Amino acid sequence: ATQPTREDKFSFGLWTVGWQARDMFGEATRPHLDAVDAVHKLSEIGAYGITFHDEDLIPFGSSKDERRQIIDSFKKALEETGLVVPMVTTNLFGQPVFKDGGFTSNDRSVRRYALRKVMENMDLAAELGAEIYVFWGGREGSEVDQGKNVGAALDRFKEALDTLAQYSIDKGYGLKFALEPKPNEPRGDILLPTIGHALALINELDHADMVGLNPEVGHEQMASLNYTHGIAQALWHGKLFHIDLNGQHGPRYDQDLVFGLGDLLQAFSTVDLLENGAPGGGPTYTADRHFDYKPMRTEDMDGVWETAKSNMSVYLMLKERSKAFRADPEVQQALEAARVAELSVPTLGEGETYEQLLADTSAYEEFDAQAKGLEGFNFARLQQLAVEHLLGAR
Ligand code: GCO
Ligand code: MN
Ligand code: MN
Ligand code: MN
Repeated sequence: ATQPTREDKFSFGLWTVGWQARDMFGEATRPHLDAVDAVHKLSEIGAYGITFHDEDLIPFGSSKDERRQIIDSFKKALEETGLVVPMVTTNLFGQPVFKDGGFTSNDRSVRRYALRKVMENMDLAAELGAEIYVFWGGREGSEVDQGKNVGAALDRFKEALDTLAQYSIDKGYGLKFALEPKPNEPRGDILLPTIGHALALINELDHADMVGLNPEVGHEQMASLNYTHGIAQALWHGKLFHIDLNGQHGPRYDQDLVFGLGDLLQAFSTVDLLENGAPGGGPTYTADRHFDYKPMRTEDMDGVWETAKSNMSVYLMLKERSKAFRADPEVQQALEAARVAELSVPTLGEGETYEQLLADTSAYEEFDAQAKGLEGFNFARLQQLAVEHLLGAR
């Protein structure tokens, strides 16, 4: 059951398995991975899709002819393998020109250049049949509070997203945009640091309906937030367009570990939510299960493919455990005892007004708040059952 198939819809960023492990302190430890080879290898290990930033596929500064050649051989590999491109994104952080951001650089000419770079890559995304276009604004932010007018930056972020949404509509590309929050790194402080900040910005957009989120496990956890809660809220808003699955050990630098490594218990609740919906009912996640991680610097290419398989196998093991968890009659009893489903019952009766609530003495005057305060919620048993299922003890 831990053998992935296309139906599992696993996808990988070209920049993940292709990461040469160049870091802040050291040189690359691995050779360049050709995109065509990545497609074939991912297909071989059971993946469904591959995603990329423009520059992962087409080196910055390539000529028109070089660009066409690269795209054509990439498309040929996709055709040969049946691998799809569910998502595409832009690198607006690597080149020095973007050191103060792309959409929100203080320099207007950089912002205009950034828009053009995205539009060119949106054309490619559409050509490859991608449905999701991700925006991760890693350089949109600051180190000096006085150096950035955050309000003006949000105006420009909105202007960029409104303009690009209009472009997609006019061109008939049908792309859905997904914003990816992150609190910091590479900038000292990044704009749209959490799921909540991004959701609030979406409300201000001209084409809010076509913009949602691409939350990454580690990024929420860097901000000490609960990823499962975050994506549950995104689902509630109908905004969980895409996900970046990986692992992270709490608030420290962005680790981009294999999925599940770090807070494994939370990874379990994440998969349980994605696959089964909230306990007590709710929507599930339908797009590709996308991994955004960095294979350890110590590994050679064999090790890289080992980690790629680990991501999928961990996910499938957690999925299997979550199904067993939900099917267990003792878990059903525990959910019942914790009255999880009762939360879905509206607090007011159907058609009940606040006047009627005020008139209901059982709700207040006669309500024994002290006795109620002594009752337990039985979450402890549920927690133990979750751990037992996670550990395969049931
Ligand atoms: C990170 C980010 C990036 C983005 C990617 C998509 O780890 O900080 O996840 O990897 O996901 O650039 O645009
Ligand atoms: Mn990511
Ligand atoms: Mn990350
Ligand atoms: Mn990443």
